[in-house]
Amino acid sequence: MKIIYFSGTGNGLYTAKTLAELLDGEFLNISTCDNVIDDETIGIVLPNYCNDIPAFTKKRLGEIAFPNAKYIFLVVTAGASLGMCALSVNNVLKKKGLALSYTGLALYVSSFIVTQVSLSRGIRDSMNERGEKALIKIAEDVRERKTNKVKGSYLRVPIKGVSWAFIKAFSKNKKVGGECIKCGLCEKICPTNNIKVTEIGVEFGNKCAYCYACAHWCPKQAVVFGLKEIKDSKIYSNPHVSLEEMKLR
Ligand SMILES: Cc1cc2nc3c(=O)[nH]c(=O)nc-3n(C[C@H](O)[C@H](O)[C@H](O)COP(=O)(O)O)c2cc1C
Ligand code: SF4
Ligand code: SF4
Repeated sequence: MKIIYFSGTGNGLYTAKTLAELLDGEFLNISTCDNVIDDETIGIVLPNYCNDIPAFTKKRLGEIAFPNAKYIFLVVTAGASLGMCALSVNNVLKKKGLALSYTGLALYVSSFIVTQVSLSRGIRDSMNERGEKALIKIAEDVRERKTNKVKGSYLRVPIKGVSWAFIKAFSKNKKVGGECIKCGLCEKICPTNNIKVTEIGVEFGNKCAYCYACAHWCPKQAVVFGLKEIKDSKIYSNPHVSLEEMKLR
């Protein structure tokens, strides 16, 4: 079994590695994995960003071939809901002559910094418990090769459009403050390879997926998106994932 995942705060990585452990599989990052994944059982772990999977992951999924896939399951990680994620993944798979067999949902603390509020460790832990418990059931279902219908509604398309317009406007003035020590960590963890750290400073390209990994993992809390500074108790990363595990390069 191979499980591919995308992750900004570590929620997705935690999900993929836990399922790999429970199901005796291997987990691979969708940004850096090969374009051919040759296994009969394929797991896909993606987040819900504005009611859909991130555009970057849709593109990557389209590029990856699954020549021997017989059972494909999706686990969406989210702050609240599945949105249209399963529909989108199934549409990408359809173009390859494949289909989703099973979809599960794991809810965690939301990584969406626009609405990020300060939460105590205790509240965060209890919010993440929902996802942690869901994974036990999902693993059981996958072990038994259970199937379910692809859920979701395209009625969410307009909400998705408005949400992205808002996020892009909000995040336009992405910058790095004077606290930056040019450690290069943001460059190593950015899933879209959108950051270059040089002696002069930190440069952002135009491939941002708005995962906010750079903001949440920066050791100096130096990354600022738009008007809102995310500091201290608003900074979030999944407590079961280490910085080392997040590094892609
Ligand atoms: C830009 C953005 C948009 C989001 N939109 C939604 C949403 O529409 N519905 C939802 O339930 N969660 C939403 N979330 C929360 C994430 O789906 C959730 O925190 C997920 O576990 C993130 O996983 P990751 O940090 O490993 O990528 C959003 C997060 C971000 C960063
Ligand atoms: S992770 Fe933070 S401190 Fe390190 S280079 Fe990036 S912005 Fe600067
Ligand atoms: S620049 Fe930051 S928010 Fe954008 S994709 Fe990279 S890590 Fe995520």
